[in-house]
Amino acid sequence: MKIHFDFDTKHFESSEAVVVAAYAKKDGGVQLSWSDAQLKKEFAMAKSSKNFKAAAGTTYGFTCSRMSDVIVIGMGEKTKAKAEGIRRATAAALQAVSGNKYNSVAIDAASFNAINKLAETASLINEALIMTGYKFDKYFKEAQKESFKDICIYVSDKKVKKQIEKVEESSRNLADSVNFCRDLVNEAPNVLHSEEYAKRVEKDVKTALKGKGVKVKIMGKADLKKENMNLFLSVNAASAYEPRLVHLTYTPKKVTKNTKHYALVGKGLTFDTGGYSLKPGGSMMGMKFDMGGSATVYGAFRAAVLNNSPYKITCILGMTDNAVSATGTTPDSIVKGRNGLTVEILNTDAEGRLVLADCLDYACDQKPDYIIDAATLTGACLVALGSQVCAVLGNDDKFVKQVQDSAKAQDEYMWQLPIIPEWREDMKSKIADLKNIGTPARAGTATAAAFLENFIKDDIKWAHLDIAGVCDSQSHLPYCPPKGASGLMVRSLHKLLNG
Ligand code: BES
Ligand code: MG
Ligand code: ZN
Repeated sequence: MKIHFDFDTKHFESSEAVVVAAYAKKDGGVQLSWSDAQLKKEFAMAKSSKNFKAAAGTTYGFTCSRMSDVIVIGMGEKTKAKAEGIRRATAAALQAVSGNKYNSVAIDAASFNAINKLAETASLINEALIMTGYKFDKYFKEAQKESFKDICIYVSDKKVKKQIEKVEESSRNLADSVNFCRDLVNEAPNVLHSEEYAKRVEKDVKTALKGKGVKVKIMGKADLKKENMNLFLSVNAASAYEPRLVHLTYTPKKVTKNTKHYALVGKGLTFDTGGYSLKPGGSMMGMKFDMGGSATVYGAFRAAVLNNSPYKITCILGMTDNAVSATGTTPDSIVKGRNGLTVEILNTDAEGRLVLADCLDYACDQKPDYIIDAATLTGACLVALGSQVCAVLGNDDKFVKQVQDSAKAQDEYMWQLPIIPEWREDMKSKIADLKNIGTPARAGTATAAAFLENFIKDDIKWAHLDIAGVCDSQSHLPYCPPKGASGLMVRSLHKLLNG
């Protein structure tokens, strides 16, 4: 599917199908902010059009005298319209015109513009088209047919041409990075093990981010040993593959002593069997997505760099699988982490926090102003917040609020959970500094965060995202595949890093 922006009505008129949006009026009528006067007239003339009230989620179709099919997307009331409405309506539009029926489709951006910003509307349409058009179909014997070849976002006002050029690129960078994240998460774990994962990220940095000021450092088992990252190594102990710590640094073109430095840290468990504390078969299914946190922060890093973030950004991805073998770490083991704290590992299935612990300590040594980590860390997150809401916890309420505001600006759900002294106490061991699980079935998401907090030093402002719920199967969002990776939170973090 090729998407292009067009300012020429000819292109709009010659398309096989035309998509226009309509808003519902309070009096039961419809409001049409369409660029094409002729279309409006023909809509009014069509007998059945009076039955169409433009409620959100409804569509209406007719054929105009130019012989193109017209698909009208109902948007609901304009006063209630938000950016998310435009994303969802675009996804509905794409669904409505898919199915090998049309070679060319044009979307009238102005008709969707409920937020009074035409360039931003066009940008949202582009973003939603790229996200909705995503497919993970590389493993089928026969390539899936493209729904159609060409889709045109028609912008009727030439005055916004300059703005459009900018947002066309930035929205594509963002949505492509969401899709890049999805591809990594969807990849099979027998293919995407730690060594392959690191290679793929490195290759992407060297191609997509070439000349953008990004440096790559990849660390293996020997390097982690030198760094005393024994908690990370304990998770890798049963693996057939070497662990990988991918360390990326981005330096913007202009740096002053006031330039802020963000560090992103991601859990990259390419598969989580649970280890000796083995998961039952049903719960193990889908655990290829346990590297979703790292794919999310890499996706955000990628988009931020492509869109020339003004901040210095460090990105640290901790990659391994949590396998089972004779060399695996047994429950009851006591292991000393990079920061010198000892951990009694009572459950080898609480492995993500062990990898993150050493990665967070390593991140602190890069002297960032802020650290944000993302991880599919706890099943408890799904119990607390369902599969639609991302949990955020941290050591600085103001910073957490800033992260939440970025999520809100992108219409992604993020809710704060507390870390209280009692839960910090719950993570203390009787025979070591810490233990890796708290009281069973009690505040699992927050006790995990209380554990991680021990590895943040120098009072660096830190926010932890538990994406266990939102990482996949977002079937309520029409621009996400109903099954498989969602790519959610890439947009929120991009917002934080690029404003
Ligand atoms: N990767 C899982 C978390 C997870 C579970 C995400 C289910 C999504 C769905 C994590 O490594 C894990 O196994 N956590 C344990 C922690 C427990 C042993 C304290 C969990 O949530 O059961
Ligand atoms: Mg686990
Ligand atoms: Zn895990």
